Amino acid sequence: MAQQAAQARGQAAPADREFPAVDINKFLDISAQVEVDDLDWELCARQGLTADEIFLIGYMSNIENHTIIYMREMLATTAALESEVVAFLSMWNYEEFFHGRALARVLEVCGQPLAESSIRDVRKKTGLRERVEGVFSSILSVVYRKDYPALYMAWGAINEFSATQAYEQLAATTSNQPLAILCRRIAKQERRHFAWYFNGARERLARSPRAQRMTRAIMTRFFTPVGAGVKPVHEVDRAMRLTFPGAAGLEVGAAADARIGALPGMSGVDLLTKFVKRAQETGAGTRPAPAAA
Ligand SMILES: [Fe+2]
Ligand SMILES: [Fe+2]
Repeated sequence: MAQQAAQARGQAAPADREFPAVDINKFLDISAQVEVDDLDWELCARQGLTADEIFLIGYMSNIENHTIIYMREMLATTAALESEVVAFLSMWNYEEFFHGRALARVLEVCGQPLAESSIRDVRKKTGLRERVEGVFSSILSVVYRKDYPALYMAWGAINEFSATQAYEQLAATTSNQPLAILCRRIAKQERRHFAWYFNGARERLARSPRAQRMTRAIMTRFFTPVGAGVKPVHEVDRAMRLTFPGAAGLEVGAAADARIGALPGMSGVDLLTKFVKRAQETGAGTRPAPAAA
């Protein structure tokens, strides 16, 4: 967090140092289910969750479980013609699935299980916008065959940044110690996902001005935060407020934009910041939710 805030104060985003290029083979070698068997689940149940934590964990679990649907859309684009992308997607979907499962277990042991129908409900709520985006992405990937993977990776990078921030924020603020450990473990994998997307986007954008123009145009017009296609706006805003709270949250949002802005052709973009502001303005005057367990 301090490092991200420092970047928000104008220091260059040290992407190369903090997020070294990911060798896909190394990624495949170390990919694993997030470890949960050694967590003290009895302590987790005793320490319980606040109402905000129940909401955010449920939200993130639903989004993690939606990864396979997002992957199906990606496989319908020309990005899936790259063998490295296919290898990454396979491992990525595997890790994200177990994030969702681990979070669902936290809710269950704390007496707040996800509804049986929860995953189905998210699928059903997949908005028209998300379905249109799926078709649009597929068409765009055919039109911009060689350049499309740059867009897909830049978009993935900012989503993984948000996911990392959500888990780091939860780890930093929760009083539930096993949950904090779990969140730090998930955040470690999310940072690796970010690194792969970010470095892939940088490489592809650097070699194509056309990819830069297309990526910038699409992202500045159509980018929305994680979950926006499948969750109602008030839930997206609440998740954003919890993930990027207060002035520090605005700094982290600005740091994310600065990092994406460090990609070739993307300088000065405002992607997350405007949504963090909207979420905070929408929630102005609301009180923190009381503890639920
Ligand atoms: Fe995840
Ligand atoms: Fe991820």
